[in-house]
Amino acid sequence: MANIVVVGAQWGDEGKGKIVDLLTESASVVARFQGGHNAGHTVVINNRKFVLHLIPSGILHKGKKCIIGNGVVIDPGALIEEIRGLKRKKIPVGKNLFISDNAHVIMPYHVALDNKSEQSAKKSKKIGTTGRGIGPAYMDKMSRSGIRMADLLDSRIFREKLKANLAYVNYILEKRYKAKRISLEKVYDEYMKHAAFLAPFITDTVALVNGYIEKGKNVLFEGAQGTLLDIDHGTYPFVTSSSSSAGGVCTGLGVAPTRIDGVLGVVKAYTTRVGGGPFVTELKDKLGKHLRLKGGEYGATTGRPRRCGWLDAVGLKHAIRINGMTGIALTKLDVLDDLEKIKVCLSYKYDDPYKSCSCSKKGKSCRFKEIPHNNRILEGCRPVYKTLEGWGRSTRGAKKMRDLPKQARAYIDYIEDLLNVKVSLISTGEKRSEVISLRDPFSGRKRK
Ligand code: GDP
Ligand code: IMO
Ligand code: MG
Repeated sequence: MANIVVVGAQWGDEGKGKIVDLLTESASVVARFQGGHNAGHTVVINNRKFVLHLIPSGILHKGKKCIIGNGVVIDPGALIEEIRGLKRKKIPVGKNLFISDNAHVIMPYHVALDNKSEQSAKKSKKIGTTGRGIGPAYMDKMSRSGIRMADLLDSRIFREKLKANLAYVNYILEKRYKAKRISLEKVYDEYMKHAAFLAPFITDTVALVNGYIEKGKNVLFEGAQGTLLDIDHGTYPFVTSSSSSAGGVCTGLGVAPTRIDGVLGVVKAYTTRVGGGPFVTELKDKLGKHLRLKGGEYGATTGRPRRCGWLDAVGLKHAIRINGMTGIALTKLDVLDDLEKIKVCLSYKYDDPYKSCSCSKKGKSCRFKEIPHNNRILEGCRPVYKTLEGWGRSTRGAKKMRDLPKQARAYIDYIEDLLNVKVSLISTGEKRSEVISLRDPFSGRKRK
């Protein structure tokens, strides 16, 4: 029996969807613990592409239970559309999906506030959110004025809370943003219809997931976003509004830390980021464009081009520590196939024009092995690279380590040594079959 967390080790889009889909084979339950439909998790099965936003990627396997935990924020309209979209593709969604009654609801005013606040922010301050209302929904949760799925099921409570929230929100929309008011009746009617549709799925998921754990079933916890987008441990304020690292499982599903047996970090063989914020290893040149084109680096949710750059061991070491990773899944190795040289960032270099740095070098070429929390410094950091040989031939569909070119094996060995964590899986293509499986993440055992 083992319960494993799958988390993103970078700024999201590492290929978590593909890895969760693969591991679902050995699990009975797949549960999301944070985020919302800002996530876009892609799974490709027999040339059919599925992009999951709120529903766990395990839904594509027959007979597996999928849970959306209390830590997730849910836009009911988006969830209903996702359920319908899966059914249109002949994927059954019914008694296999459970939604926490304690999960918070994304309301139309959250979406309006998210977009207005982004539009009115100065260019350098724009987060580049997905515009899905995620931040404002978590703000309401923390300020204790949020509406939960349980509230949606009680029309009186729902109306009361909606009325109170709209009184405040409409004031802000009108006065601060000169925007249109949101109609109580319209939202009430729309959400009551959503409630009727979703009611059969809504339940106490804390009892449910812990019941499965107590029965000895394998549970997979599916993270969204990535560690560097975590509200506490990411590159704040250019982050999302939830705990996207492994700690989020405990609060976002009501699962005790002692129930977690392993944490698999999904690491893309290079780095990408969507939206604003510092990105020390970003490549703004031809090479960055090459990675974007070859890797198909366009947002699965918003379609925005992703910023691309080299692997960053400073960020990865932080992610390994924060999550207590017991293994990593290295994805998109094939995207590096054509490159002559491959770089890995080992530390950050910074020349402090104000000489205000407190380190022994007095601001002259300071070196950072941890991500600095002063954003002025982080923005000015430059990467210090180790350069490795490329392999110049296709790795697509390799089944065993020995199928890989020796330089690709050297790259993997180098990453393992540098990060001091074992590589459990290597992905060399988007398809289910394009994977080298070295260790079983559930048992930790080496595969033959
Ligand atoms: P997630 O948000 O972490 O689930 O990742 P996304 O689905 O947003 O982005 C990952 C993209 O890379 C998707 O288009 C996947 O189909 C694709 N992908 C996943 N693994 C691989 C791989 O090993 N090689 C290639 N070329 N594509 C991959
Ligand atoms: P998956 O699960 C990549 C980014 C947004 C923005 C910041 C805040 O597919 O890896 P938000 O809408 O959450 O308030 O936006 O977070 N972001 C993601 N980037 N992958 C994601 O999810 C993301 N979800 C949010 O681009 O910079
Ligand atoms: Mg994604």
